[in-house]
Amino acid sequence: MSLKIKSNSHFDTISVIQEALLKWYSNNGRHNLPWKVNDIYKIWISEIMLQQTQVKSVIPYYQKFIQKYPTISDLLKAKKNDILKLWSGLGFYRRAENIFKTCEILKKKHNGKLPVNYDDLILLPGIGKTTASAILTFSGNGAYSILDANVKRFLSRLLRIENTTKNNKYLWDYSTLLLPNDKASEFIQAYMDIGSMICTPKKPNCGICPVVKYCISHTKGFLNSNEINKPKIKENNIWVMVLVNSKNQFFLESVNYNGLWRGLYSSPLFKNYGELSDWIKIHNIELNKEHTIWKFVHHLSHIKFSFNVIFYKVKSNKKISLSPDNWYNLSNIEFGMPKYQNKIIDKYKSINDYN
Ligand code: ADE
Repeated sequence: MSLKIKSNSHFDTISVIQEALLKWYSNNGRHNLPWKVNDIYKIWISEIMLQQTQVKSVIPYYQKFIQKYPTISDLLKAKKNDILKLWSGLGFYRRAENIFKTCEILKKKHNGKLPVNYDDLILLPGIGKTTASAILTFSGNGAYSILDANVKRFLSRLLRIENTTKNNKYLWDYSTLLLPNDKASEFIQAYMDIGSMICTPKKPNCGICPVVKYCISHTKGFLNSNEINKPKIKENNIWVMVLVNSKNQFFLESVNYNGLWRGLYSSPLFKNYGELSDWIKIHNIELNKEHTIWKFVHHLSHIKFSFNVIFYKVKSNKKISLSPDNWYNLSNIEFGMPKYQNKIIDKYKSINDYN
């Protein structure tokens, strides 16, 4: 590969960095992760779950998923709602939809199996360059490097170049150049682990970094852009109308809040009180002293939501025009609900005699 690496004596010996990273990984890396297996199906599920989500959050979801669908043939029989239900609370629900879409493609085009070559794998929904590389390399089907957010931060600091999109090509090339073909699987896991355990976004632990001697940022100072590029947490208000009827059933509908929680079921959501107020008027609901309001804060990775929840017990009232199909007993719910909805239900149970 022709690569213009900045002329710097630190980088004369690629193999020194490779060895330092592999040795560090051997002594300190995360070897006992449940997806460290030789099964491309399980590796695929884990890599999709690990997109934008931390290892410790993924582990229980991964275990439940694999318990329910131990093989690809089991998963190919699943309905979309069954997958979404298992995904409830993990977030970024498009990933679950992509798993379902992938199953449909595998049935039609690949004999119900995951392809083991890069060109076919990358065409599947939700599989980008890093995910394709990780799936193939971890499953022993090739040696491909990766550039996720952790590796990008680590390499941009090592080389002291800005962690920006315009440097992606350079960083991809560098990531590939460093990859030792004979130990690719250990090496890409070492990349991931050093990025998330040592070269962390805010306070990198340079004191125990195995490649600190070669890190230009450590010698010359960090470029601010690493910190400046951090996505800002957005803040949002959200209103929820929780309706419970005399049979203790909840009124739930399929949600899609600007692309969030798509396909899951929730009490009706509104961007502001005005929208909620219009909705209850349309459905002939009159708020009276039967209602209570509860506020709580719920964080997604990139958004802080201030929830304003109205609990309202619906008496049998012929005027109220709500679809009879949307009332659900909590004991036999067969679809996924967002995490905030579980918090709301727990709160409702704690302030009412609900069983
Ligand atoms: N992030 C993405 N893939 C990962 C993996 N296999 N282990 C740890 N973190 C990851």
